[in-house]
Amino acid sequence: MALIYTTATGDDVDELCEFDGRNFGFRMEADEIEWVRENFDLDRFVVARDPALDGSPMVGAAGNFGLEVTLPGPTVVPMAGVTWVSVATTHRRQGIAARMMAWLDNDARAHGEPLIGLTASEGGIYERFGYGAATVVRAVTIDSRRVELLERFRADTSSIRFVDHTEHYPEICAIFDRYRRQAVGQVSMPEFLAQENLRPHGPSSRMVCALHPEGFAVWQVNPDWNDGDPRHGLRLWMLCGLTDEAQRALWTLILSTDLAGEISSRLAVAPDGPLPYFLTNPRALKTTHIGDHLWLKVLDAKAAFSARSYRTDDALVVELPDGDKLRITVDGVSSTRRRRADLIVSESAVGPLLLGGISASVLAAGGRLEAASPAMLRRADAFFGSSPTPHCSVGF
Ligand SMILES: CC(C)(COP(=O)(O)OP(=O)(O)OC[C@H]1O[C@@H](n2cnc3c(N)ncnc32)[C@H](O)[C@@H]1OP(=O)(O)O)[C@@H](O)C(=O)NCCC(=O)NCCS
Repeated sequence: MALIYTTATGDDVDELCEFDGRNFGFRMEADEIEWVRENFDLDRFVVARDPALDGSPMVGAAGNFGLEVTLPGPTVVPMAGVTWVSVATTHRRQGIAARMMAWLDNDARAHGEPLIGLTASEGGIYERFGYGAATVVRAVTIDSRRVELLERFRADTSSIRFVDHTEHYPEICAIFDRYRRQAVGQVSMPEFLAQENLRPHGPSSRMVCALHPEGFAVWQVNPDWNDGDPRHGLRLWMLCGLTDEAQRALWTLILSTDLAGEISSRLAVAPDGPLPYFLTNPRALKTTHIGDHLWLKVLDAKAAFSARSYRTDDALVVELPDGDKLRITVDGVSSTRRRRADLIVSESAVGPLLLGGISASVLAAGGRLEAASPAMLRRADAFFGSSPTPHCSVGF
């Protein structure tokens, strides 16, 4: 019997939470199920059921959040944020995810979103669905016992307040919102996503939120008394400063936290940010992992490439996977019938090229893009590139 695919409703929420928790390996408590009920737009979720089984249980689920992403300009464009994609272990590799991903594309188009993006549980899943890794994550550790900020970078911490972050989401989200609109690669963080991104992980629930008038940092403390030589672990979930002064004040505070040993962060430190230059010993900051973070798929290339700015006064013809050709200039984007394109782009390269963090040269070397000549590749690097490297510090 064929599976049944339907838009989710309120009646699906309990089963959806149980199903998702089972597939991702966690249990959702009653308050988290309530969080789903209150915040998810269930019209944007699809569920698959198997009528051949008793009670027609859920065997697949996936959804979109209505988010925004910042492109070079900087300019903010709507982006569907894919989330909660999972398929029952008993029903894997039968095309259920593929069918749901197509449903999500259609849902995004119906909402007028030119882009659809996600953060992936595994690296090997999403390229076949047209997504390309468009931002890089740099996980770091800092041995706070070996390092401090150089004197000239230290900033006054007296305006920072320690607060319970769960009572200050509106301020945190307002600061982040101002920040992300100026920062290429950043995705919007509505309050319900802040609750998810700033949730403590593991046994310790001691979270610390340092709120500056123009920034905030949230970290989790994992105590380690180490037989009288304390080295508590500080897991930095997010650090956001609207000004250099706020950034430096927050780092001054974190690096002078008593009893701290290792500070670790997955998303709070930008891949090419200046932090190492601020430190008395830059080698105390170690990069422990570099990998993909935000995967992007472009659903409406003309709208997406029209929205962003470009770094050189050039005009390039790009052939898209469907054969359409766009002439992209600093002044606008138009369809063209020119026979030969300057660049031919595979589907998974369109998102990274759009965001500008992965160069055309790297995409070409990786077999995802072809250029008419080496000189054209250099022009494309200069034209599409974005600096600093796009960074996304939100998960969804
Ligand atoms: C990832 C997951 C959703 C895939 O569901 P599925 O229904 O088995 O996927 P499909 O049958 O539609 O597979 C479509 C294609 O993707 C491939 N694929 C699926 N999962 C893959 C994986 N984890 N790694 C690499 N390729 C994968 C399939 O082989 C298939 O390839 P083909 O088109 O060449 O035949 C499912 O394995 C799952 O629920 N995993 C646990 C939760 C999870 O990680 N979700 C993703 C969250 S970001």
